[in-house]
Amino acid sequence: MAEPSGNPMRPGDSLLRLIGNTPLIPLHFEEEDRTVWVKCEFLNPSGSIKDRLARTIVVDAEKRGLLTPDSILLECTSGNTGIAFAMIGAARGYPVAIVISDRASGERRTIIEHFGARLILFSGKGYQEGIEITRRMAADDARYFLPCQFENPLNAWDHEHETGQEILCQLPGRIDAFVSGYGTGGTLAGCSRALLARHPGLRVIAMEPAESALLAGEEACCHWIEGIAGGFVPPLLRGLKIDAISKVSSPEAIDMTRRLNRRFGLLVGSSSGANVAAALRQALELGKDSVVVTMLCDRAERYFSTRLFELQHPEGEAV
Ligand SMILES: Cc1ncc(COP(=O)(O)O)c(C=O)c1O
Repeated sequence: MAEPSGNPMRPGDSLLRLIGNTPLIPLHFEEEDRTVWVKCEFLNPSGSIKDRLARTIVVDAEKRGLLTPDSILLECTSGNTGIAFAMIGAARGYPVAIVISDRASGERRTIIEHFGARLILFSGKGYQEGIEITRRMAADDARYFLPCQFENPLNAWDHEHETGQEILCQLPGRIDAFVSGYGTGGTLAGCSRALLARHPGLRVIAMEPAESALLAGEEACCHWIEGIAGGFVPPLLRGLKIDAISKVSSPEAIDMTRRLNRRFGLLVGSSSGANVAAALRQALELGKDSVVVTMLCDRAERYFSTRLFELQHPEGEAV
């Protein structure tokens, strides 16, 4: 089959086109009398912002001849990146192996397996251990292709040239602040760079779990905000001008996530709640007419077994 332009279509091209171009919508918080703009990354086909990175890395590797029909995509991830690669591998016809901590929620593992990918569980605490496993596997078998999301410059490049540009088209006027948590740092670094090029006065706000505020010079510790702050400052954040750090505690993140779920009808995960809590704080600081942008990173269905879904009365009282 060919596209209208005459170019031949590859398996999975239609799926890849569903990635990106997500809506940017205003959320008005009545009590605080502030509006925050949120980019709906949870609407990507596998349900998270990570579809962008997986698509760009796979397409780039294909163009450079690094992927052959017997290549196996191999990545260490806390879940969303694994889900994204598993989806794209299924659509493109590549086997996928995902190295994942045995503490990642069962739902994330189930989704990855349902896309047909192989799971390799490790019981270590940090990513470094999982990354080492992928390196050893790749050293022994040339079929493995390592996307290396934590170091791959395409990660931040993609957010600078895609996500950030979409935000600039969607909000052609003033933007005062961009707020984002970080896992690999790709979103924060890439989007900030794109927005700063148009708005040099933009405030870049890094959101961190209050329990693990490494950029603020504190110790890494346990938190419940899924998908961010893996216990180290990622290399992709090097050189980024960060104006302020906004610490959000795990209970605050869960409260705001519930507010997004129940008051706005947005069934998103806890990193989205944490981002919005920090963005709302920023809007309160900057004033009523401020334009503050943040990300809704993923859908909530992958967290059924986590604290986000512990049964609560809608007003927050445990039942
Ligand atoms: C749910 C969620 N939110 C936010 C992020 C952070 O994105 P980035 O890796 O671009 O810093 C991730 C990354 O894994 C994630 O899974």
